[in-house]
Amino acid sequence: MTRIAVFPGSFDPMTNAHLDVARRASGLFDRLIVGVLNNPKKAPLFDVEERIGLIRGCVADLGEHVSVDAFDGLTVDFARSRGAGFIVRGLRAVSDFEAELQMALTNRKLAPEVDTTFLMTALDYGYVSSSLAKEVAQFGGDVSPMVPQSVAIALAERLATGPRV
Ligand code: PNS
Repeated sequence: MTRIAVFPGSFDPMTNAHLDVARRASGLFDRLIVGVLNNPKKAPLFDVEERIGLIRGCVADLGEHVSVDAFDGLTVDFARSRGAGFIVRGLRAVSDFEAELQMALTNRKLAPEVDTTFLMTALDYGYVSSSLAKEVAQFGGDVSPMVPQSVAIALAERLATGPRV
């Protein structure tokens, strides 16, 4: 049986916490598809193609069984369209749990055949989020512990030129 999982998120931008989860999940599943939510209403700092490009660079060493794609609509529809039986989400702290439980239960109601699996983020990245990295970068702080180097460079470039509208 081929175990296929999707790892959905906004990834605006990918952090070391995301990458840690992707790395762990890549060891558990035969195929892992990182799904980047294309939600223009959220006014992301990086458009979906930029986010995909950054993630592809970050996960390149995880193996050919890891791919990256955009999706819109429901995560369970994305999972079904890829034949995935699993959704992967990372848990950093207890504070993540309530929202993640609600999402997992909603997804189970919508697609009982798709299971959500949670991976605990490494302790070092327990505090890391995309929004925090953006805020620190915006005010000139060092984001190198929070995001991969390519993302730190992209953040510096984007914030120097200002976000696209
Ligand atoms: O990185 P994020 O922003 O925490 O990811 C949230 C995401 C994209 C996984 C979630 O918002 C999502 O699944 N959106 C797609 C719409 C959907 O399926 N909603 C129902 C489940 S809550």
